[in-house]
Amino acid sequence: MAGFVKDRDSVLDIATGTADVLVSVLKKRKIKMAVGVDRSWNMLRIGKSKIKDKRVSFVIADGMKLSFKAESFDSVTIAFGIRNMSDPELCLQEILRVLKSGGRAIILEFSIPKNPIIKAIYMFYLRHVLPFLGKTISGDHYAYRYLNKTIETFPCGSDFLNLMKKAGFSKTSLFPQTFGICTIYVGKK
Ligand SMILES: C[S@@+](CC[C@H](N)C(=O)[O-])C[C@H]1O[C@@H](n2cnc3c(N)ncnc32)[C@H](O)[C@@H]1O
Repeated sequence: MAGFVKDRDSVLDIATGTADVLVSVLKKRKIKMAVGVDRSWNMLRIGKSKIKDKRVSFVIADGMKLSFKAESFDSVTIAFGIRNMSDPELCLQEILRVLKSGGRAIILEFSIPKNPIIKAIYMFYLRHVLPFLGKTISGDHYAYRYLNKTIETFPCGSDFLNLMKKAGFSKTSLFPQTFGICTIYVGKK
């Protein structure tokens, strides 16, 4: 993801969690500044402890109702976050609002592989292996059933690009990762 951010960018990372995206952006790019937002303080606390850089700050915020002025950032990133939003389209509209003209949204999310053999293996893993492992290791059967349901039902590939276009993004493109089990979507304001 960090590869799509440019040197001197101001960056917003939504659903930053423990700030792994920002850590990787800081390693790869000489950014101007960055803000990580998440609705969970417990996640942000861990992220904060990982980054001691004056250019980076953290804010508690809902990805569907950001507190930033319009046209504030050159790049907005969100990894494995938009699928969990109750209204992903609203989140896309907020991303577009806070992006400067010409800025980029860079979104990483789980997707379903296109190759039928890989898809069959992956679906078996998602539906049977992952819930079994999740239940055995964490004792929480529900969390891993929820994960596979959201991955299977969330729009991916061209369907997600259509959501981005509907929100107002242009020059949208997608970059499947690891046989298509996740995808990076990029769109321009
Ligand atoms: C699976 S974690 C991903 C964290 C990080 N982006 C990464 O890739 O490691 C999802 C994060 O989304 C956050 N989140 C979920 N809904 C949110 C919302 N409406 N607004 C802001 N953050 C949200 C959760 O608190 C959690 O930290």
